[in-house]
Amino acid sequence: MLMDIIRKRHSIRKYTNEQISREDLDKILEAGNFAPNAGGGQRSMIVAVHNSELARRLGIMNMSKFNRGKLIGSYVSKEQPSVIDDPTMKDGFYGAPTVVAIFGQANFLFKTADAFCIAENMVLQATELGISSCIVSRGEETFDSVEGHALMAEWGVPEDYECQGFVILGYIDGEEPAFKPRKPGRVKVIE
Ligand SMILES: Cc1cc2nc3c(=O)[nH]c(=O)nc-3n(C[C@H](O)[C@H](O)[C@H](O)COP(=O)(O)O)c2cc1C
Repeated sequence: MLMDIIRKRHSIRKYTNEQISREDLDKILEAGNFAPNAGGGQRSMIVAVHNSELARRLGIMNMSKFNRGKLIGSYVSKEQPSVIDDPTMKDGFYGAPTVVAIFGQANFLFKTADAFCIAENMVLQATELGISSCIVSRGEETFDSVEGHALMAEWGVPEDYECQGFVILGYIDGEEPAFKPRKPGRVKVIE
């Protein structure tokens, strides 16, 4: 049931070294590719890095420009601490062996919305396959360097595209986090 998968998904921030299979990755990418997209334009580009060394390099690039001063004070999780909670974390992708970068056309109003529809489809498909995931932001900053631009060029991402975010993928190291209760009063039905 879809609702079981939705409830089962958690943002995972600790991974084993085991790589996910190419077959599973392809299913996850297909789910992303079928996401709703503004105007039906299918503008986003999805680049999967199925290479743990390169994923780690990107994870470090993802953290290198992280400005803690801009945080408005948040705490994510005791069980699965994030870079927000733990300043000693240097890899923004938490050692996940695969990362999917989602790019959008810089001047397109719905580039970010499109990207996160793709991300959600992918994390749900990953959950169904028993693969852990986390959506990670700071896309633009990650590629804002000579090295970042060189990688985008190598991957064939057009120059007027910007990374909107990432989905990291792998197998959880440890126990699944506990279910997070939902805050009351956020959902209303008006008949
Ligand atoms: C738009 C967006 C950006 C996020 N960026 C990050 C991020 O950069 N790093 C991270 O560890 N988690 C990130 N997350 C994951 C959230 O922290 C996570 O969804 C939230 O804590 C709720 O936990 P859950 O996903 O396990 O339900 C992001 C989630 C969303 C929707």
